[in-house]
Amino acid sequence: MDSRRGFLGAASGALAAAALASRANAAEPVATGKPAAGGNPAATVVSGSAATDGTVPFYGAHQAGIDTLQQTHTVFASFDLRTEKAADIERLLVAWTDAAARLTAGETVAPLGSDAGTPPLDSGEVLGLPSRRLTLTFGFAPTMFEQAGKDSFGLRSRKPAALVALPRFNGDQLVEAQSGGDLCIQACADDSQVAFHAIRQLARIAAAGDAAAGDASAGYGRRGAAAQATGPAMLRWMQAGFVPDSPVAESPRNLLGFRDGTDNPGAPGIAERANGKAVGNGTPAESVWVGSEGPAWMRGGTYLVVRKVRLFLEHWDRSNLAFQQQVIGRHKASGAPLSGGTIAAPLDLDALDKDGNPLIPENAHVRVASASATHGARISRRSYSYNNGLSMVAERWPPWRQGLEYDAGLLFVAHQRDPRTGFIPMFERMSKFDLLNQYATHVASAIFAVPSGARRGVPIGHELFA
Ligand code: HEM
Repeated sequence: MDSRRGFLGAASGALAAAALASRANAAEPVATGKPAAGGNPAATVVSGSAATDGTVPFYGAHQAGIDTLQQTHTVFASFDLRTEKAADIERLLVAWTDAAARLTAGETVAPLGSDAGTPPLDSGEVLGLPSRRLTLTFGFAPTMFEQAGKDSFGLRSRKPAALVALPRFNGDQLVEAQSGGDLCIQACADDSQVAFHAIRQLARIAAAGDAAAGDASAGYGRRGAAAQATGPAMLRWMQAGFVPDSPVAESPRNLLGFRDGTDNPGAPGIAERANGKAVGNGTPAESVWVGSEGPAWMRGGTYLVVRKVRLFLEHWDRSNLAFQQQVIGRHKASGAPLSGGTIAAPLDLDALDKDGNPLIPENAHVRVASASATHGARISRRSYSYNNGLSMVAERWPPWRQGLEYDAGLLFVAHQRDPRTGFIPMFERMSKFDLLNQYATHVASAIFAVPSGARRGVPIGHELFA
């Protein structure tokens, strides 16, 4: 059973109730107090077992966290590889898969242990918390297959044609240290502490070097801090994000105050959104999942583009409502297109006002992003807002403003079957013409191939190394 069906199946008996329920409370897991459901029987159960509703199944044809009804929190983590041996990566993926199966089932990553003389094997901040629909999604960057012309891991010939490096787009102001990476893990959960805990344990496994030592099943993090320089991978950048705990029936509002993710092909929650009436076009199968065109290890997988988009909220807050709506092309309160109808109505890009001007302006965000403006490009967005506090801004142009501004915006996450026909042509045009550009700067960027899901005994990416 794939994750979405598993979740929606649990919710379908009470669709009307689910539509009113909040995301975080959708199909709440039941604490059982039973022993761990799978993996290590000694692992501590901190929530319901894998079988209880509300725990998103880890194993399946697709990785979870892609068509799963969006959880309220994310931690997106990108890792640099620190090894030149493919076998180290393979062992790391075995260890990560094993750990992820436990964490998503609501267990600790390893038995806590009772030896007062060694560090606990799980940091413990989720003890007593349910799994909160935790999902962990793994991806491989182009640099894992080839870096500066070097085929370090012997994987170059296996690089999918669709896994291209993103070009530089108009207006990009990318911060190198917060972009790229060789591997990624996205944790999503209905609790920020659960999401961060999962990344923290997985980062510790990678940095401690147990996986590289072939000790994947027993010694999570046992080598401690001294071994941190020897592990096969280490964190490169990380970003936390959130969406409001709004009713499942509504696409969540982003920091601009607009509903985001409304017109998403086959988006999770679409069916609930208009009381069973789909508002998106297409299906995830067509626009998200890789089919027979991809290598065997990518079939049922997808390509993930992540962009950190800083939003100039001070500027936005000084813009009048009518202009804000023209920038997006939708009404702020209702989310309905400016061309009329309800939020579920399709965009009418030909609709004109009494003076013959388009109701949805030529450069409105939804128009320049729409399939008709992008030669049919379709992506499935699963973005989160972020808030990193304040940072100093000193303009080098008149009126030379200086001062603290919000360091906040959108952690844009998009899944697609092929970025060469998805994000790249879509954003190529948007980066030049979108009215939203005056409020937004892309400061970080990465692309990852997200392989098909793990099966019991078959870890993430197994077929790539086979
Ligand atoms: C600055 C960050 C961004 C913000 C705040 C933002 C916000 C929004 C909002 C409020 C909508 C209307 C509701 C909806 O249909 O979801 C929307 C639609 C959309 N956005 Fe964005 N967006 C951002 C960046 C991007 C980027 C980088 C892309 C892709 C390259 C993108 C692609 C789309 C698409 C495809 C739609 C649906 C268009 C349609 O109705 O056909 N957005 N966005």
